[in-house]
Amino acid sequence: MPSPSQIAKKLLPKQVKRFILLNFLGVRRRYDHLRSHPSRRFLEHEILPWLARHQARVLFVGTGPYTWQFERLFRRSRDQYTTIDPESATAVWGARNHIVAPIQQIERFRPKGYFDCIVFNGVFGFGIDDLDSQRETIKVLHEALAPGGLLLVGWNTNLLPDLEALGLFRPYFDDAEGLPWPHRTPFGLPETHVYDFYRKRPQ
Ligand SMILES: C[S@@+](CC[C@H](N)C(=O)[O-])C[C@H]1O[C@@H](n2cnc3c(N)ncnc32)[C@H](O)[C@@H]1O
Repeated sequence: MPSPSQIAKKLLPKQVKRFILLNFLGVRRRYDHLRSHPSRRFLEHEILPWLARHQARVLFVGTGPYTWQFERLFRRSRDQYTTIDPESATAVWGARNHIVAPIQQIERFRPKGYFDCIVFNGVFGFGIDDLDSQRETIKVLHEALAPGGLLLVGWNTNLLPDLEALGLFRPYFDDAEGLPWPHRTPFGLPETHVYDFYRKRPQ
């Protein structure tokens, strides 16, 4: 028989669950400092607001207690912002359009070419860790994007080799040009974060 807390978890609306986790169970205290890291500020205050102004359908891959605020930026339509994460425990941080599944299964939920932009930050090295899975995932991201679609890959130099230098993106993506930022933006120590923008190559 489910316990009262399991029943509450099922029945409470997402906003109420978030409020309890953030304010009574210490989640805000544990995670809010992450938002002040320069690479996180760049994502939250520069990249995502720009994407919200210019991209019609954005997929954000991987959700956590420091990502739920991003949905507020995407107000153009109900379909503008979708999140995906395989962990049911992180669904509470997902958007109204949230999918509980690994990104490798996105085509079960959305048609090929559906998204104009995919934000793929901190997933390689945090769940998709070997080169074969990374290669397969890059192909999946390519298929999920519309022609000319934009891909942002955020990764950490202390966790991964440079997949671009290894040629993993080359069959599917070009370096993105014409954005407010260069193709690659690295953050110096103590951070190890890098953002790379790619444009889907027609195939
Ligand atoms: C370090 S967190 C990054 C969260 C978020 N993308 C961000 O930028 O803050 C890594 C997240 O990737 C998710 N993840 C791991 N493997 C995944 C997969 N195959 N598909 C989608 N998300 C995955 C994990 O569950 C976790 O929530």
